[in-house]
Amino acid sequence: MADPKHFLDINLVDAGDLRTIIDDGIAVKQARLGTPKGTIDPDAPLKGHALAAIFEFPSTRTRVSFDMAMRQLGGDTIVLNSNDMQLGRGESIADTARVLSRYVDAIMIRTDDHDKLQELAEFATVPVINGLTNDSHPCQLMADVMTFEEHRGPIKDKVLTWSGDGNNMVTSYIHAAGQFGFELRIACPEELSPDPRALKWAENVGANVHVSRDATEAVTGAHCVITDTWVSMGDDAANRHNLLSPYQVDEKLMAGADANAIFMHCLPAHREEEATTGVMDGPQSVIFDEAENRLHAQKAILRWCLGAS
Ligand code: CP
Repeated sequence: MADPKHFLDINLVDAGDLRTIIDDGIAVKQARLGTPKGTIDPDAPLKGHALAAIFEFPSTRTRVSFDMAMRQLGGDTIVLNSNDMQLGRGESIADTARVLSRYVDAIMIRTDDHDKLQELAEFATVPVINGLTNDSHPCQLMADVMTFEEHRGPIKDKVLTWSGDGNNMVTSYIHAAGQFGFELRIACPEELSPDPRALKWAENVGANVHVSRDATEAVTGAHCVITDTWVSMGDDAANRHNLLSPYQVDEKLMAGADANAIFMHCLPAHREEEATTGVMDGPQSVIFDEAENRLHAQKAILRWCLGAS
């Protein structure tokens, strides 16, 4: 039996395959324009297929977009809260992987422990998809790249600036910078710097990634400005507001970017903390296209994982 095609991290998928997934996501979105959201795609490429979606953390976008993606592809989803599973009572990840692989065609997991994702992938005989871990959020990055390209054309050689916490999103942005060939500038406090393993990976592959403490300098001429909530799931909130307030994305910071720059945020947001309402609802904001594109990008990921592209 061939090894399953997992979607665990952006740096673990071939760059050509990532490009195929983005192009597929844009094409399937275009093909469905004006179609009621519950309509199954004409070719129903995943008819008869089922996804188990495991959540150890709350979710709005990931939960609904994966479920709707499977429905539109003609398949089904079983949404599982880990506390309702034997996993929550101590059954091992390895046994859970082996058992679920006998029932479903793919597994998506959102977990607080990246090691659990890796163990699941090691023991599953079906594709495993990372729906966010403490380390990374690759599905969100695919939606972000898709959104950037819809609004501003090819992302290669463009400048994207992250201002805020050097969190799991930043790790996936670092991976994406290497794989898609854009320049990534990260402005963050030293105490909340990006994962050194991701920065080392970027150095090894020659990715154009820079870390600074100065948000104003980092946004100069940028084609896209991105931020995220100051307190992510699982974080200790202490002192984060003080550390991160110089990195708030407000109208003044946006004015330093390229005149046609867009603003992205993966949501959920805490308005007037990491970004002002004026920026979030302003003309440069594409945050709701970004949220919508989780659906289309994940349809393309599911098709890739299950050999139905
Ligand atoms: N961006 C994101 O992953 O949203 P949810 O936490 O609502 O899934």
